[in-house]
Amino acid sequence: MPGTCVIGLQWGDEAKGKIVDLLTERFEIVVRYQGGANAGHTVVIGGQKFKLSLIPSGILRPGVQCVITGGVALHPPKVLAEIEELRGRGITLEKNLQISDRAHIVFPWHIEEERVLAERGGNGESIGTTMRGIGPCYRDKADRNLAIRLGDLYRSTFPKQVEQVVEYKNVVLGALAAGRPFQPLSASKIVAEYNGYAKQLERHLSDTTSYLHAAIEADRKILFEGAQGSLLDLDHGTFPFVTSSNSSAVGIASGAGVPPSYLKKIIGVVKAYSTRVGGGPFPTEETGDVGQHIRDRGHEYGTVTGRPRRCGWFDAVAARYTARLGGIASLSVMLLDVLSELPEIKICKAYEINGKQTLDFPSHVDDLRQVKPVYETLPGWKQDICGVRKMADLPVNARKYLDRISEILGRPVEIVSVGPDREQTILS
Ligand code: GDP
Ligand code: IMO
Ligand code: MG
Repeated sequence: MPGTCVIGLQWGDEAKGKIVDLLTERFEIVVRYQGGANAGHTVVIGGQKFKLSLIPSGILRPGVQCVITGGVALHPPKVLAEIEELRGRGITLEKNLQISDRAHIVFPWHIEEERVLAERGGNGESIGTTMRGIGPCYRDKADRNLAIRLGDLYRSTFPKQVEQVVEYKNVVLGALAAGRPFQPLSASKIVAEYNGYAKQLERHLSDTTSYLHAAIEADRKILFEGAQGSLLDLDHGTFPFVTSSNSSAVGIASGAGVPPSYLKKIIGVVKAYSTRVGGGPFPTEETGDVGQHIRDRGHEYGTVTGRPRRCGWFDAVAARYTARLGGIASLSVMLLDVLSELPEIKICKAYEINGKQTLDFPSHVDDLRQVKPVYETLPGWKQDICGVRKMADLPVNARKYLDRISEILGRPVEIVSVGPDREQTILS
């Protein structure tokens, strides 16, 4: 059975967690391969809400093996808190959660670096990160000299490694503080703290790459769960207003350590509209009543930071770009119910840049800032659809709206979501 993947095609929060939980019924292994505690996935089962960040959303199905691979930036206290929270709610987490010894570790200096840099401010609009140390951790990974991976915590060289990094980081952080009060980091305290985490995580420690290779050879059913969205991809998103990992489909093979040829079915998840948290251009953003209506109906506030999400119309130019980038086989259109009360609904079907229409997504943010969306207006359905369970039972205007999205993106819509609960789903 070829690998199946779930990825977001917008700026994150497309309800990937819900789809992963739903599809896990048909899979044995669920793999998280990039990102870190910047992700926040909400899954609702029979009215019970679960919030997941580092642990794959597959954990809510008994008997499923969950894997966090080396592509993830792992913050040990966060994953341990998540394990505890799930345990408290009756979810077993023993051998069913494996964490790669290759995963890069988020340390206090990463969080501190991000905080200090954000306080200093840059030139221009801020990225508005989640402040989870993601950028600094991946930066150190790329730098190599200052990076520490989970496997390092179990070696006798770990205290020396921390000492060397702390010596360097104290110089940098001290300089960045530029005269403001600065509390230098203590290597011995950090070693003691992280030794404690290492002990608690030891039962989950694994060479997940070898595990997945064996699982592929044994033809086990593997589902890959993306975090963030393709427009936040470090290389292919709206740079520099992106995250620090490859959150589009291009990151699956590198993050998980599986052959690209194995990944055959990539499911693209979109909201029926658009949202974005943090800074950066957002061509279809609605800052007035429509945006507020969507925010209220969709409860569009960040799972991780609680920030109000910026809301707007469905951007088919952006989603077509990420669907092509990901070789998307089919679409899951989520939160369709949020649009139910609107008399008219718009889809951005082209961009106008400097007086010229295009379907191409600009590579530079300055061009994206210039975009005037070219809208097509469709009639709304003005009907509650939360209880609909069959495509044929959707109001005709809702079906027309989905057909139009499918047509512009050139992909079939296989799943439609009409409410947060696992049950509130339509499979075609
Ligand atoms: P993720 O990060 O992609 O997993 O998405 P989030 O969990 O951050 O955001 C999606 C939000 O929408 C969550 O609060 C879900 O419970 C909720 N949700 C999922 N599907 C639907 C839906 O079809 N309708 C509504 N109203 N809410 C939904
Ligand atoms: P899920 O998995 C939405 C955004 C941040 C910021 C930018 C960079 O829940 O879809 P970072 O902390 O990663 O350096 O921040 O990326 N961002 C997300 N937005 N959903 C997410 O994850 C996000 N993870 C990061 O708001 O704009
Ligand atoms: Mg989210």
